[in-house]
Amino acid sequence: MQGVTPYNSKDSKKEQVAQMFDNIAFRYDLLNSILSLGIHKGWRKDCVKLLREHKPKLILDVATGTGDFAIQCAQLDPEKVIGVDISEGMMKFGREKIKKKGLDKLITLEYGDAETISFPDNTFDAIVVGFGVRNFENLEKGLINLYRVLKPGGKLVILEFSNPRNGFIRWAYNFYFNKVTPFIGRLFSKDVRAYTYLPESVKAFPDNERFTDILKKLKYTQTSFKSLCFGISAIYQASK
Ligand SMILES: C[S@@+](CC[C@H](N)C(=O)[O-])C[C@H]1O[C@@H](n2cnc3c(N)ncnc32)[C@H](O)[C@@H]1O
Repeated sequence: MQGVTPYNSKDSKKEQVAQMFDNIAFRYDLLNSILSLGIHKGWRKDCVKLLREHKPKLILDVATGTGDFAIQCAQLDPEKVIGVDISEGMMKFGREKIKKKGLDKLITLEYGDAETISFPDNTFDAIVVGFGVRNFENLEKGLINLYRVLKPGGKLVILEFSNPRNGFIRWAYNFYFNKVTPFIGRLFSKDVRAYTYLPESVKAFPDNERFTDILKKLKYTQTSFKSLCFGISAIYQASK
């Protein structure tokens, strides 16, 4: 996964990922809706529902991008939601959206790298990550740091693409991801690599049981995953 980078350049994966998201930020929300046919919104809602019974007061949205997951978390009636990301370009659009919705007192977005964010230990009641972990430069380092800032008993909910197991679905998914997505992505975003990096990074991502095994290895408890939409995405849950 570390080997799959957006531009195959000499820059670190982190620098390339931040640059790529800066490049496509102005079209990110539109392309998300077109390419997923709007399904991604329901997936974030499903994730947030899982947190309802825990009544989290302080929530961290890692890899917040344009802030959709943070905005969805406002439904939980928390005291504060903090979104962090390494792409200032993405957060600029997120901040505008949050302000328009009148949520700027509740939600703040700030620069932060999952692998090095320096919040004190045991700070957050819940952490969410939407389509972010696949892009980490060092997946385990990021997950270890999230564990550190999660309160004991706190919940981690991760939404990420996965590789469907069913042969026909996998064929259709690969066709869509390898042919349709790059074509539409190129048309709207003008970043040729961004939407070919997407299927490459999904393919390289250790999904389903492989991901829950990593969470267990890193001391997370109560780990589970639920496949969504014939296995094209999954919600992962874990506790500290
Ligand atoms: C596909 S976007 C997802 C945005 C948003 N969470 C959503 O659900 O639409 C992935 C985001 O992960 C961010 N990202 C990648 N690596 C990161 C890291 N190490 N720390 C924080 N953010 C990161 C990127 O900058 C990008 O904004």
